Order: sequence, then C-alpha cells, then structure tokens
Amino acid sequence: MGDEHLPSTIRKLTALRASTNFREIISLETLPTPKPGDGELLVRNRFVGINASDMMWAAGKYDPTCKYPLDIGFEAVAEVVEAGPNAIYKPGQPVMYLQFGAFCDYKIVKASVCVPLPEVKAEYLSFILSGNTAAISLDKVGEIKSGETVLVTAAAGGTGQLAVQWAKLKGCHVIGTCSSEDKIQFLKSIGCDRPVNYKTENLGDVLKTEYPKGVDVVFETMGEHMLDTCIDNLAERGRLIIIGYIERYESDKGYEPSHTVATLTARLLKISASVRGFYLKNFAEDFVSYVTKQIQYYKEGKLKSFVDMGEKESAGLFVGLEKIADAVEYLYSKKSIGKIVVDVSSKL
Ligand SMILES: NC(=O)c1ccc[n+]([C@@H]2O[C@H](COP(=O)([O-])OP(=O)(O)OC[C@H]3O[C@@H](n4cnc5c(N)ncnc54)[C@H](OP(=O)(O)O)[C@@H]3O)[C@@H](O)[C@H]2O)c1
Repeated sequence: MGDEHLPSTIRKLTALRASTNFREIISLETLPTPKPGDGELLVRNRFVGINASDMMWAAGKYDPTCKYPLDIGFEAVAEVVEAGPNAIYKPGQPVMYLQFGAFCDYKIVKASVCVPLPEVKAEYLSFILSGNTAAISLDKVGEIKSGETVLVTAAAGGTGQLAVQWAKLKGCHVIGTCSSEDKIQFLKSIGCDRPVNYKTENLGDVLKTEYPKGVDVVFETMGEHMLDTCIDNLAERGRLIIIGYIERYESDKGYEPSHTVATLTARLLKISASVRGFYLKNFAEDFVSYVTKQIQYYKEGKLKSFVDMGEKESAGLFVGLEKIADAVEYLYSKKSIGKIVVDVSSKL
C-alpha cells in the first residue's frame, strides 16, 4: 500500500492532567501523519485493548514524574501500512504490539516490538498484556505445579480469563471469583472447577469448608477484603501473587497500608507462605515466547479468548476512538466479561 492511501492527518487520544476521572482529562488531537524512520513501521490500528491500568496510567499513578499531555493506551492489533528502512514487515502484515500511546488510529511503532499475526482479529488482544500477565506470573512467580489448587480473583475479566485457563492447562484445580451469575456461567465454560460469586457466597466460608488445607497459589487482583480472605486461606508453603488492587484504583488516595500489612508477618510465618509482587514490565524477556505460545494454543483450540465490545451496553458497541472513555468506565462497572476491546478503525 502506498502513500496515496494514507490520510494527511492522524488522531490520537492524550491525557491532559493527572486525575482518576478518565473522561474529564482526555483529549482527541489531530496531528500530521508521521513517516516511519529506520526500523520503524507506520501501522493502522484496528482494535485497541482496555485495561484497568489505563485509568491509573493517565492519572500518573505509575509514574508521578510523567509529563502531560501524556500518551495513553498500551496495546493494539493493527496492520502495517508503511515500512521504514530495515523494518522487517511489509505493508499489509497484521501485527500486535504493546507500546504506550496505542489509543490512536495510526501509529509509528518499532518493528522489533511487533508480533506478527495470521490475521487482524480482536481475540488476539487477550494475549499480549493480559495473557502474558496471567501466564508469566503463574509460572515464574507463582511457580504453579500440576495438582495444585489455584485461586484466581476477578476470574471472568480480561486477565482473569487467561489465568484460569493457563492454570487449567498446567493441570491445576482452579477456583475463580466473580460478582454475577452470568460470570459464573462464563467461568464454567472456560473450565473453572469452582466458580464463586462473592456477592452471594462467602468466599472465606467456601474455602474453609471445601479447601480445609488451603489454597496453594492465589492470583490476586482486588486487594482490600479479598486480599485478607486469600491470605487467611493460603496452604502451607502457599504463594500469593499480588497482581493488582483494583478496589482502590478509583480513589485518588492511592494505596494505604491496611490491617493486612500490619498482621502479615505472623500470618505468613506460621505456614511458611509468601506474598510476591508481579509487574509485567519486569518480565520483558519473556514477552515474545509467552505470547507466541498463547497464539499457538489459541489456534489449536487449547486456549479461548473472549472479547467484550460493549454488546450489552445500551450506548452501543465500542466503535471509534470517541468510545474509549465509555469502555474504560465499563471496565470499572464490573459488568464486562473477558477482554474489553474497542474497534478504532471501522465506522458504524
Ligand atoms: N501487575 C501487572 O503487571 C498487571 C497487568 C495487567 C493487569 N493487572 C491487574 O489485573 C487486574 C484485572 O485487570 P483487567 O484490566 O484485566 O480488568 P478486568 O478484570 O477485565 O476488569 C476488572 C474486574 O475486576 C473486578 N473488580 C473488583 N472490584 C472492582 C472495583 N472496585 N472496580 C472495578 N472492578 C472491580 C470486577 O470483576 P468481578 O465481577 O470479579 O468483581 C471487574 O470486572 C487489575 O487489578 C489490574 O491492575 C496487573
């Protein structure tokens, strides 16, 4: 595809100041279409992934020294439209990438960070950020082994759906928490052994009654009371992976040490258990091998990827950059199932 098909301008979303009110701080800018340099590609984004951390990143919580206007959005499935010198892909190649500033219609990306795809399809977006977080953390930090019991919180979400399936592929027994009956049905459909709706069942009681020896590994994303319950139900030598603490993300106060931290030492010591942190950025060397494996498993039918483009929302499907704020708010509504995706290039 040559330059004659390219628009003279591109559009991208930026955050203008630090606040957790995502909708209020974003702005859609129009800029001249950039040219790819050495080793770079100009790609046309088709699908972008929505993450709990989009709001946190825009609010400057990950990097308090960040400068505004700030590029936002982390991941996209795209098509190469122009290749710079020494860029390894040709125009027309479908790719997926993880790079800041993905909330745009066209973008310059380094060819070296792109993963080639067989086709432009939204389902692949489950694997690069969410799936890599699930698989790498369970393997490298949780050290899961066949036969172990694994508890996944927010199990029906974008990251949780892959954590459930990855642990099942490794031969684990998987308990998954969620907040609605339609999510319970979804969790059963992806092989979760014991879905728990924490709104209607007391998770602590379920664990004490059905898993009296405790849980070997916890993939914990919520924080607060959920974190406490999980620590209280760790098995001897259990490992709890701190993946997130979403219960506090919307608060501008950020994380405050709680009762959990104050009592941690005594609770962990007596069962030789550990609490371990995980941040995907620290495992860059594993990105390509893990995403490639997930794509292979997906093609073989061993892994499923569910995307949610707002089909259940009265405001309509997430189509267009203008819908990104709706999609971020949808994530925080707790109604979504699977990976939330916005189609940024097709028109309704
Ligand atoms: N450490 C890392 O490198 C890394 C990377 C990716 C993601 N994460 C973390 O993984 C978690 C899931 O992220 P995601 O992007 O995949 O989101 P998601 O799971 O698709 O959506 C969030 C889900 O979290 C649950 N939730 C519980 N309390 C909530 C609250 N107060 N507000 C909103 N949601 C709440 C809801 O499910 P229920 O129905 O189950 O309550 C909701 O559907 C987040 O904690 C995120 O920060 C961490």
